Amino acid sequence: MTELLSIERLEAGYGKFHVLFNVDLVVNSGEIVVVLGPNGAGKSTLLNSIVGIADVYSGSIKLNGREIAGRAPHEVTKLGVAYVMQSPNNFGTPNIFSELTVYENLIAASATLQKREITERIEKVYEIFPKLTELKNRKAKFLSGGERQMLAISMGLVKEPKLLMLDEPTAGLAPKLVTEFFKSIRAIRDNLGISILLVEQNVRKALEIGDRAYVLVTGRIKYSGGVRELDEEKLANLFLGQ
Ligand SMILES: Nc1ncnc2c1ncn2[C@@H]1O[C@H](COP(=O)(O)OP(=O)(O)O)[C@@H](O)[C@H]1O
Ligand SMILES: [Mg+2]
Repeated sequence: MTELLSIERLEAGYGKFHVLFNVDLVVNSGEIVVVLGPNGAGKSTLLNSIVGIADVYSGSIKLNGREIAGRAPHEVTKLGVAYVMQSPNNFGTPNIFSELTVYENLIAASATLQKREITERIEKVYEIFPKLTELKNRKAKFLSGGERQMLAISMGLVKEPKLLMLDEPTAGLAPKLVTEFFKSIRAIRDNLGISILLVEQNVRKALEIGDRAYVLVTGRIKYSGGVRELDEEKLANLFLGQ
């Protein structure tokens, strides 16, 4: 197995506000890695550090062996990382353009690609989320929460990233939709070969599709290992700091 993302002894936060302490985390090629933890634990900050939105104080973040800690977001994107931010997030930035249609959003996300590549990649995305085909001419502001999330993820996928980072993609979705969503996430890995770093509140479902898991509590990794070893009692104890 090759290490796609490798984080060592990461210390990070926002200005003087120190959030992450001594974080080690690896995503191997082809893996779905799940990050769990209570609210405010620093899960989003971890993803923000990888793409250069949060401040990295020390430690190392390597992508395919190349150091990327402290690089600007657009550089990290170029190196093959797609990031679908939690919505709403602390920066007040929506993860889609609400005045554009679904198709226009996908085109906007493909801005750096050749024309012939764009059509091909949008077709691939429609295979993962067939619903978006029906909705392609609808303005994003009229989409449901689930449809918006599908679009936001698709906007990352058209760039054919090596690593897709999803921050609570199923938050606020109806239970039936959540199951479907997790199938799509697995299909992204299985059919498109994209590795996934997934932050989730939906613990049980996330552990079903994850290969490995990390539990982050008050900025520190309290568990790293297989998903089978994490039953609900163990998780509850970890979340409570026991
Ligand atoms: N943009 C930001 N600026 C300053 N502090 C932030 C920012 N985003 C999050 N925080 C703080 O960092 C801590 C961790 O937050 P976050 O990473 O969002 O946790 P989680 O995603 O696990 O709920 C919290 O105390 C939060 O208030
Ligand atoms: Mg968060």
